[in-house]
Order: sequence, then structure tokens, then C-alpha cells
Amino acid sequence: MVTGITVSSMQQTFEDTLVNAWTSAWDRGEVDALKSISSDGYTRHGKSGGSPMNLDQYLDEIRAIRQGFPDLSTTIDSIIADGERAAIFWTTTGTHTETFLGVPATGKSVVTQGSNQVELRDGLIHRETVTWDGTELLNALGIRSLSDAIAAEKEQTAEVVVVDLSGEPDLDAMKAFNRQFVTGVTVVTTMEDGKPKGLAVNAYSSISLEPPLVMVCVQKTSSTYPALFASTHLGINILSREQKDTVSTFASKSTDKFADIEWHQGPEGSPLIDSSSAMIEAEIRERFQAKTHTIFVCRVRHAEVTDIEPMVYKAGRFYDGANLASL
Ligand SMILES: Cc1cc2nc3c(=O)[nH]c(=O)nc-3n(C[C@H](O)[C@H](O)[C@H](O)COP(=O)(O)O)c2cc1C
Repeated sequence: MVTGITVSSMQQTFEDTLVNAWTSAWDRGEVDALKSISSDGYTRHGKSGGSPMNLDQYLDEIRAIRQGFPDLSTTIDSIIADGERAAIFWTTTGTHTETFLGVPATGKSVVTQGSNQVELRDGLIHRETVTWDGTELLNALGIRSLSDAIAAEKEQTAEVVVVDLSGEPDLDAMKAFNRQFVTGVTVVTTMEDGKPKGLAVNAYSSISLEPPLVMVCVQKTSSTYPALFASTHLGINILSREQKDTVSTFASKSTDKFADIEWHQGPEGSPLIDSSSAMIEAEIRERFQAKTHTIFVCRVRHAEVTDIEPMVYKAGRFYDGANLASL
């Protein structure tokens, strides 16, 4: 099945309970509500390692965030449940009207998104891994790091924490950096209500051979994104030197990109484009939130490789993979 995640009625009950507890804790500050959905040995792990939190520390963190952002409001965008595991995708908005992590109120509104992977034991959350940490709120306010915030507090700079981006390259430097990187071009595909969908993607990488893991990075504004996000599987087509027109089609916003394309379906239904150099169908295992993009980590289930040479992409131009000079 490519589209849709079906949940059993037991999972539906879990989802309802979870949404209620989250709303009570995050939106109303009734943090004890989370005790009803967490196991005794609950641990909460951050994406960047460090010591895990226990439940009391987690509840304290919610209290601290709510203190800085009293109008905090969280929407659960989606829950993908699979037996003893679930992924929760959420969006939080709030206005920084009180001191947070030592930073005096800026009055700014922030929107942050994240995802939690949870492991259940006897129907309760036992372990939670969060792809977000509190300092992201500071970043959203234009504050570079926690150490800046702490320094500002020490100096008692009452109102302004200067946004100093001197530690980051500017946009042009980043673009120039990316232009020096040579890639192929893929088309990432899925089915939605029986209709093939896809977009051109060069942010593809192999992760490992054993197990066969790959990743693609897709912008959330893509019209293909909602279908991809909801899919269990996707197709990745490495375009060949014969498919220059195909790139243009899949880099466009056309509503029927497959109209003039020959394609077939992988075992789970993902569209695989004929005349590509190689095609895989892969099961989506992780959906990591990266601000404007989502990184899909996928386990390859099916591969087709042809002898047609690939297309090469560098700095906005396309080259013939059969005519590369070797060093
Ligand atoms: C060579 C090339 C590489 C691209 N790589 C990516 C990418 O890695 N991720 C992404 O989200 N969009 C990428 N795009 C942009 C999308 O293909 C483009 O925004 C497309 O219109 C999205 O279509 P959709 O909104 O119908 O899904 C790339 C475009 C080109 C031409």
C-alpha cells in the first residue's frame, strides 16, 4: 500500500488519549496529564544526545517553556502508529512575552515544528526521542545560541539580544558552495488516490548498503509533499542522459506530470519511470523534520538498474554522464 496509514481502533484510542494529554499539558499547563500516558521508567532523549530526561524533568521543561510563552498552543499534525511504535508530528506557536532561558521577552511570535518517535510498553510511552530542543525557540527569535542568551542575561542587557550572524555564511556563499557539488538528478514519486505524483530531487544520498538505506530531502511547500508524507513507500528514479525533458516536467508545478511519461509500478505501487538509469522502490522508515524540509530515510525493497548512462547536474546545468573525462 502506498497511500494512507490505517490505524486499528486500539491505536485510535491511543491517539485520542495522547492528543488529550498533550493539549492539557502544553496548551493549559496541566502537565500532570502526561503521567497518565507515560510509564514508570519513562525517558526522553534529545536529537543531539546528552543525558535523557525523566518524566519530572520533562514536566519542568514544559512549565519553563510555558512560562516564557504563556499563550503556547500545539497542534498535532499527524500520528503514525505501528504496533508498539509511533511517530508524532507537531507544530507549536507561542509569543515570547516572559523571560525564557534567561532571555527577556522579545514580544515575538514563533512557530516551531518537530517530531517525536515514541516506544510504547503496555500501552504507555516508555521512551521518547525528540527531534527538537528548547534552544530552537531561541533561534526562532533570532538568538543564535544559548551561550549568547546566558551572556546577555549576565550583562543584564534588558531588551535586546543582538542577532549576530557573523558565524554563518551568507546566502550567496551557501549557494556558491552548493554549486560546487556535483550530483545526479532523481525523480521522487508516490501514488495519491490512484494518481502518480513526483518531483525532481537532487538531495538524494545512499546511507548504507547493509541494511540498504537511502535518504531524500523534500521541501514542505512541494505539492507532492503531503502525498509523500502520508505514503508508506516511495519511488526514486535516477534520471538518465535521455531524460532532459523529464527533469523540466518534474521540476515544474504541472498537475499531470506523468501525462507524457512511460512508467510502471513497483511491487508496492510506487511509480518507476521508464528510461531512467536506475529505479528503486523503498519503504519510508523515518521522516525527520528539518525546518523547511523533511528528510525521508527509506529502506530499499526493490531495485531496477539499466545500462543507460545517468544525467549529471552541476551548478544549474545538466551534463551527459557518458562523456565524463576521467582524472
Ligand atoms: C535539478 C533540480 C534539483 C532539485 N532538487 C530538489 C530537492 O532536492 N528537494 C526538493 O524539495 N526540491 C528540489 N527541486 C525543486 C522541485 O523539483 C520543484 O520545486 C518542483 O516544482 C516541485 O514540484 P511539486 O511542488 O509539484 O512537488 C529540484 C529541482 C531541480 C531542477
